[in-house]
Amino acid sequence: MLGSGGREHALVRSLAGDPFVTELHAAPGNAGIEQEVTCHPVDAVDGQAVTDLARRLGTELVVIGPEAPLVAGVGDALREAGIAVFGPSAAAARLEGSKAFAKEVMAAANVPTAMARVAATREETVEALDTFGSPYVVKDDGLAAGKGVVVTEDRDAALAHAEECFRAGSTVLIEEYLRGPEVSLFVLCDGRTGIPLSPAQDFKRIHDGDEGPNTGGMGAYTPLDWAPAGLVDEVMDRVANPVLAEMASRGTPFVGVLYCGLALTPRGIRVVEFNVRFGDPETQAVLARLKTPLGSLLLDAAKGRLDEDEQLHWRPASAVAVVLAAHGYPASPRTGDRVHGLKKAAAEPAVTVLHAGTGTAAGKDGHGKVIATGGRVLAVVGRGEGLEAARERAYAGIARIRLEGGQYRTDIAATAAAGTIEVPAAARPPRPSRAATEPAAGADTIIPSMGTTV
Ligand code: AMP
Ligand code: GLY
Repeated sequence: MLGSGGREHALVRSLAGDPFVTELHAAPGNAGIEQEVTCHPVDAVDGQAVTDLARRLGTELVVIGPEAPLVAGVGDALREAGIAVFGPSAAAARLEGSKAFAKEVMAAANVPTAMARVAATREETVEALDTFGSPYVVKDDGLAAGKGVVVTEDRDAALAHAEECFRAGSTVLIEEYLRGPEVSLFVLCDGRTGIPLSPAQDFKRIHDGDEGPNTGGMGAYTPLDWAPAGLVDEVMDRVANPVLAEMASRGTPFVGVLYCGLALTPRGIRVVEFNVRFGDPETQAVLARLKTPLGSLLLDAAKGRLDEDEQLHWRPASAVAVVLAAHGYPASPRTGDRVHGLKKAAAEPAVTVLHAGTGTAAGKDGHGKVIATGGRVLAVVGRGEGLEAARERAYAGIARIRLEGGQYRTDIAATAAAGTIEVPAAARPPRPSRAATEPAAGADTIIPSMGTTV
């Protein structure tokens, strides 16, 4: 297992529970992961170092957690060395690494997404912002750990974000605003076949009520009791399968998790983004429900034989993950603060504590103490019969934890538990048949860029 976040801790837990997994190692891991498996201090984006480690350990399968090593081609280095990998090649990882590339693939595969323009200058930005109007959506074209997107009604703030991206050497994507509830659907892919996991919802903004800046994700829950019947089938038909086919036809088949970030809008389902790895913190909630042994599934994906897998099995429980973030996150997280109460939290019924940005430091008594080393420090996952019970458990767990200046949202899964999420009629499959005069699905995927190749 490559990576060091909460998603990787969740993956390690699930892999450890698979009777077919005989030995498990992580690199570089975190303070929670190292309590469960042997961790190796290897730089996850260094393909040579990762390959050497995998060879030395006689690894049968490498699971790559984060996007950075995927985009950097660590999967390619391992495959060239004959080691099976769960995670796409660098060429296929561009679906996340470049938002403009993702738009191009969606246009080619007729996948419905937000209209978008690429802008490389202030003038192009102004024109695109005024074309789409408020709320403005401005995205850094490259990888930005979930923080490169600004959604705002403030035109100056939108422009300022674009200019910041230009100064950093990036271009930006300016998009039509998508209104409606968001869904994260993870699809396990073997290059040809895709198997969807249980859909989840993620909370991107730092504060309650979806206020404040975007983060990597402050909480998540699953399943989505409010989701329309047939949603997953529709996403497979209109999004995941066409993208899998398009990537295969380009000679860059997609192996790994295709994370479909979707909005259920008044005009139907739209793709907000693709990621090429499991979502964080959705994975912490989704894997809490998965009964099917994960290791065998990921190995089958890596070996191109997912079509042999039977249906996945899920626990009937709901799961809610609440993230505890460090003081100052997301702008400038403070590290080094002690995290107290981890054992008490984990002892709460139906609660799991999954570490993210944690490390150990020697305390006054000489024993190792857990400290915060990153923005998102940990997630507490509660399971229960129904979302309200799962929520109560997650919050009972996180109440046990103390981190000076720590921040967490108190409204994760609250509207879903209250049953007040509204799905626009057009996003409820099966969709009404289109009149011949209407644009085909995906026809609004893209407006030709101004001067820049999309
Ligand atoms: P991304 O990194 O593209 O997922 O964007 C992060 C978050 O910004 C998404 O989860 C949405 O909440 C929001 N967002 C991105 N694109 C749009 C859009 N076109 N309309 C509305 N919200 C968006
Ligand atoms: N939770 C959003 C992400 O993993 O990108």
